Amino acid sequence: MKVTIKSDSPFRIRTDLLAGFVFEGDRSISSDSHPPPEAVKKALRGPLRDFRGRPGETMIAYGADGSRPQRILLVGLGKKKGFRPKDFRAAAGTLVRKARDLSARTVGAICPTARDTEALARAFAEGMHLGSYRFDPYKTGANGKKPVAPRTATLFLPGRKGARQAASAARLGEVVATSANLARDLGNTPSNDATPTYLARTAQGIARKRKLSCRVMNEAEMKRLRMGALLGVARGSREKPRFIILEHRGKRAAAETIVLVGKGITFDSGGISLKPPLKMEDMKFDMCGGAAVLAILDAVGQLGLKNHIVGLVPCTENLPGGSAQKPGDVVRTLSGKTIEVINTDAEGRLILADALAYAKRYRPAAVIDLATLTGACIIALGHHAGALMGTDDSLNRALLGAGERTGERIWQLPIWPEYKKQIESVVADVKNTGGRPAGSITAALFLKEFIGDYPWAHLDIAGVAWTEMTSPIQDKGATGFGVRLVVDYLLDREAK
Ligand code: BES
Ligand code: MN
Ligand code: ZN
Repeated sequence: MKVTIKSDSPFRIRTDLLAGFVFEGDRSISSDSHPPPEAVKKALRGPLRDFRGRPGETMIAYGADGSRPQRILLVGLGKKKGFRPKDFRAAAGTLVRKARDLSARTVGAICPTARDTEALARAFAEGMHLGSYRFDPYKTGANGKKPVAPRTATLFLPGRKGARQAASAARLGEVVATSANLARDLGNTPSNDATPTYLARTAQGIARKRKLSCRVMNEAEMKRLRMGALLGVARGSREKPRFIILEHRGKRAAAETIVLVGKGITFDSGGISLKPPLKMEDMKFDMCGGAAVLAILDAVGQLGLKNHIVGLVPCTENLPGGSAQKPGDVVRTLSGKTIEVINTDAEGRLILADALAYAKRYRPAAVIDLATLTGACIIALGHHAGALMGTDDSLNRALLGAGERTGERIWQLPIWPEYKKQIESVVADVKNTGGRPAGSITAALFLKEFIGDYPWAHLDIAGVAWTEMTSPIQDKGATGFGVRLVVDYLLDREAK
């Protein structure tokens, strides 16, 4: 699907489906210009009597034979007061799903207001792509034969003013949403296919397509570097671990380096500290942080950012094989610090320990990690926000701002030193679990042991990386959480 922006009249164009948006209580299509011709007004008279303009509400009106457009879709926007781009993103999601059901190949949409057209254009493009996302490569025969998304989607602006800016905003929306969809694909792909090797190949594919550089470390190289924590987790599986380095070299001479680290556990059984069977299948999603990092680099490459952005994704399965690490084992990390492995199910922090220590060599201006790290995060925040913990106030604030702007919301938890007592070990420098209280905080404090002197933020996305609820822009399954958030942060950072 290609999203375009136009400012001529939507009523003179041939399109399979034209959407008009309606605010709650209004009895007309919202638009700051482009008055509909008589024939359209007539076709809409009846439907608009019954249409209430609620979010998610739709109704189709048909024009008289031969009149144009043939099909008009009314889409509810909700209340006019407090209307935000996110509401338009959702409305676009509703529109694209309806268009798909109707097998419309071309879709037009009338921009509801002349204000904020840049943000609306971006929201439209995001909503169209996020809403049309579907994961069906494993469906066969009739199960796989679902109507496809439209070929083109055009947003008709009220006038020429700001059309150029709106077009580039739409392009940005397309890039971040299609990259988020890539992260969703990786997350949804079952672990028998989405192995560490598969993620590494995917990263190399992204590098080729977006002209990034990619290096994949194998087990021998990890051994040479003494990444004992990552190797310790990998011991339980037959599947080979991989350490992915995907790098965008910025154009700016005085480029800053930002390192992104993503947890790439392609399946988390818990290891010897085996998880109970209920919902264990969801642990194929335990690489969603890593998937987000690969997808962010995919977007960064397309947007041609000026800064130097590095993605690090340590990848392995966490299985209880015959040579698996065991509770009580001590591993030595790349940083030199030792860890007592109390619980093999606290494996994410182990592989991140080596990756965060590896990040030091880039002398980064900031490091952000994304990880489905703790079940405790779901207890704390549920499924409506990720947890943010970090060492740098301005980095924290910038990320919180990006979360608000994109709707990928995060909420800060403290990492006060008082909690550190919980991860003190008798035999090693630190232990990998801190007991039940404040499980997300002690996990973050554990990670903090392995960072350099760079500003660091940790995003625990355990509650938001996948979902069982659906919305106009979200099917059941992986969400791609973090992609829109971090890309927005990176853009904001270089605009300053
Ligand atoms: N991947 C899990 C965390 C998780 C659980 C994310 C459920 C999303 C849903 C992580 O590796 C894990 O198992 N964490 C343990 C840590 C504990 C053993 C200290 C947890 O949260 O129970
Ligand atoms: Mn685990
Ligand atoms: Zn895990």
